[in-house]
Amino acid sequence: MHIVILGAKGQLGSDLVAICKEKNIFFTPVTQSDFDATRDDLGNKILDKLTNVSHIINCIATTNVDGCESNPDLAFSINASFAYKLSRLCNEKNITLFHISTDYVFDGTKTDLYLETDIPSPQNIYGLSKYTGDMAVMQYAAKYFIFRVSSLFGRAGASGKGGNFITTMQRLGSERDTLSVIANQITSPTATLDVARALVHFITNQINDYGIYNCVSSNSCSWYEFAYAIFKLSGLDEAKLHKADFDSYNFIAKRPKYAVMSTAKISKYYQMPMWQDSLNEYFTKEQ
Ligand SMILES: NC(=O)c1ccc[n+]([C@@H]2O[C@H](COP(=O)([O-])OP(=O)(O)OC[C@H]3O[C@@H](n4cnc5c(N)ncnc54)[C@H](OP(=O)(O)O)[C@@H]3O)[C@@H](O)[C@H]2O)c1
Repeated sequence: MHIVILGAKGQLGSDLVAICKEKNIFFTPVTQSDFDATRDDLGNKILDKLTNVSHIINCIATTNVDGCESNPDLAFSINASFAYKLSRLCNEKNITLFHISTDYVFDGTKTDLYLETDIPSPQNIYGLSKYTGDMAVMQYAAKYFIFRVSSLFGRAGASGKGGNFITTMQRLGSERDTLSVIANQITSPTATLDVARALVHFITNQINDYGIYNCVSSNSCSWYEFAYAIFKLSGLDEAKLHKADFDSYNFIAKRPKYAVMSTAKISKYYQMPMWQDSLNEYFTKEQ
């Protein structure tokens, strides 16, 4: 088994590197300085120099949701076109592809949990480019898993967003006297460590039930509730927090109001934890 981790310095990629090390798995980390997805050929530049690659985990993405609205070319180049090229390459070399997708492929109008079989209807360029990438993987890769994740938090912080929601809340919570956080937009905050563990579990257990899997915490909350828990664990004054309304918020890119995905399918193979447990682990684990 030889796993190639693309985007190895990103928020999810760096936790994947940590889990592979912990489990003594043979892997090759690939960062943007080794390979640029907008112009390099992954075959020539990376894969031809490696032997016996069995799996590729693609954590490369353009993740700045508002930024994608003003740079759709970059979003489609990385999130869609590269996913297509990668799928073809994996087929040529008989490699199993793990591709990472998002809850933002959905429009958020559903009132019940989103299932893997629900038809996406993205509301912004980021979601559209990611869904196009998903379709390319489904159409062109023979052995693939698409893991749909949401509201990630990990030690490295998303490179496209300059941190994660926890570090943002901690910074604003200590800088400001009051802070408004949306109380009626519902999500499943998910630790990158948990996604990394699930990915590695699928690989080491040689699961070959290919397809789409929602890989998110097993329960949900509003951003306000999540912020409240972060304030508590950080020793910040929760009285500073105020509830904001989703419908009166001025987003650059439209976002789904309700983006909770069912974990019933993945739980056949791997049980995702509740977000509160993952948040506690984030705060208690050594930095
Ligand atoms: N963050 C979230 O809340 C969230 C929510 C739903 C889904 N997702 C999905 O989860 C996956 C992982 O996200 P993340 O939070 O780990 O994001 P991230 O920290 O921004 O990681 C993205 C990675 O892509 C790399 N990258 C960007 N442009 C590249 C290029 N032109 N060539 C090569 N590498 C490039 C970045 O390299 P550098 O480190 O060098 O910039 C980084 O390692 C993505 O597929 C994302 O769409 C994320």
